[in-house]
Amino acid sequence: MNVLLLGSGGREHALAWKLAQSPALAKLWVAPGNPGIAEYAELADIPISDHRSIIDFCLRHSVSFVVIGPEAPLVAGLGDNLRTMGILVFGPNKAAARLEGSKGFTKELCARENIPTAAFSRAQSRDGAFVALDDFGVPVVIKADGLAAGKGVTVAMSRLEAEEAIAAIFEEAGASVVIEEFLEGEEASLFVLTDGEAILPFGSAQDHKRVGDGDVGPNTGGMGAYSPAPVLTPELEALAIETIVRPTVEAMARMGSPYSGVLYAGLMLTADGPKLIEYNARFGDPECQVLMMRLEEDLLELMVATERGRLAGRDAPRFSCESALTIVMAASGYPGTPQSGGAIRGIHAAETTGARVFQAGTRMEGDTLVASGGRVLNVTASGASVHEAQAIAYQAADAIDFPTGFFRRDIGWREILREKL
Ligand code: AMP
Ligand code: GLY
Repeated sequence: MNVLLLGSGGREHALAWKLAQSPALAKLWVAPGNPGIAEYAELADIPISDHRSIIDFCLRHSVSFVVIGPEAPLVAGLGDNLRTMGILVFGPNKAAARLEGSKGFTKELCARENIPTAAFSRAQSRDGAFVALDDFGVPVVIKADGLAAGKGVTVAMSRLEAEEAIAAIFEEAGASVVIEEFLEGEEASLFVLTDGEAILPFGSAQDHKRVGDGDVGPNTGGMGAYSPAPVLTPELEALAIETIVRPTVEAMARMGSPYSGVLYAGLMLTADGPKLIEYNARFGDPECQVLMMRLEEDLLELMVATERGRLAGRDAPRFSCESALTIVMAASGYPGTPQSGGAIRGIHAAETTGARVFQAGTRMEGDTLVASGGRVLNVTASGASVHEAQAIAYQAADAIDFPTGFFRRDIGWREILREKL
């Protein structure tokens, strides 16, 4: 089978590495990819927003299966467009990708289906939002919805901070806002594969969102992660699937927009049990990197079974009982404007530790690998414990010569503290 994987980050490098191990794979194409991915695949220079060119490419190169890495093409309906042409896809259609694309859609679904999540209110105007704010204490969580989604999430510690976040969101025409009760607890990520009916657990992870050691500073896309997340015990995982994931998958099917692909549930483990923070319609980045390090099955076969609606009756995919941990090396300036063009050397030496270096924001400049994005490398290792995986990953990270980069020194700290107890 000829496969086209879309995306260019560390997530896609890990997916390409795993897909390349599949006996069913004939040829792997990746668009647009990066120099690390080029080791396993042929790169195609197609912008992933250009659906017409992607379809033409598939027809020209007999690609029968497309794996969509990031959320933007899913939300834009690339899945629908490919399926219309008879091309198989890993990833949900546009209507199902609303679980990630529209926070309001997901919150309303949760309300209808009695799915545990933060109490919320949705407002279409600044003044309406200020009135709605009266129903919440502080801290309170302010999220942009719809067109203004780029503005992200603010955990406001005071009414004033909440009003400022709301005002900023409504600077954009057509904006709407979701106001949420602040949930207290530890966050964990749960992944499942679903074909629209059957649900298979697909591992857990915890990430580190803040840029600095000790979880301080601005939010990022993730500075590191590890899998599994032992705080999500088998009992809590089963509870989250039964109270959150299954009612969601069933509701999507009833609405005529069944969800096919990987569903990533961001959970808050509260004193009242797991509650949904948000859904993502794709693998997390860098969570995918640690999941792929542990997956002991044929990824391509699992993805094709998902698309063909053949998950019913299957056992949950097997993962190594080892821990995997990944450290994100970022370019200085991230998550603001990252410094581009800094040289990277020593990846090969780093990998002699047993770690694996997935590339994210990299490109070749002549013969030199250089940084070309915010998150640049994901130094990933496995071990008998998070502590052991961490030691190997940092040994590898220290072997990399990337003077314009930086990374956190404490990835995995929560779990390592617990391991010591
Ligand atoms: P989201 O974009 O919805 O994932 O939110 C980003 C981050 O904000 C989450 O990973 C949490 O750390 C935090 N967050 C979002 N919603 C809540 C909430 N209701 N209570 C507490 N923290 C939240
Ligand atoms: N690491 C969080 C995400 O991929 O959304």
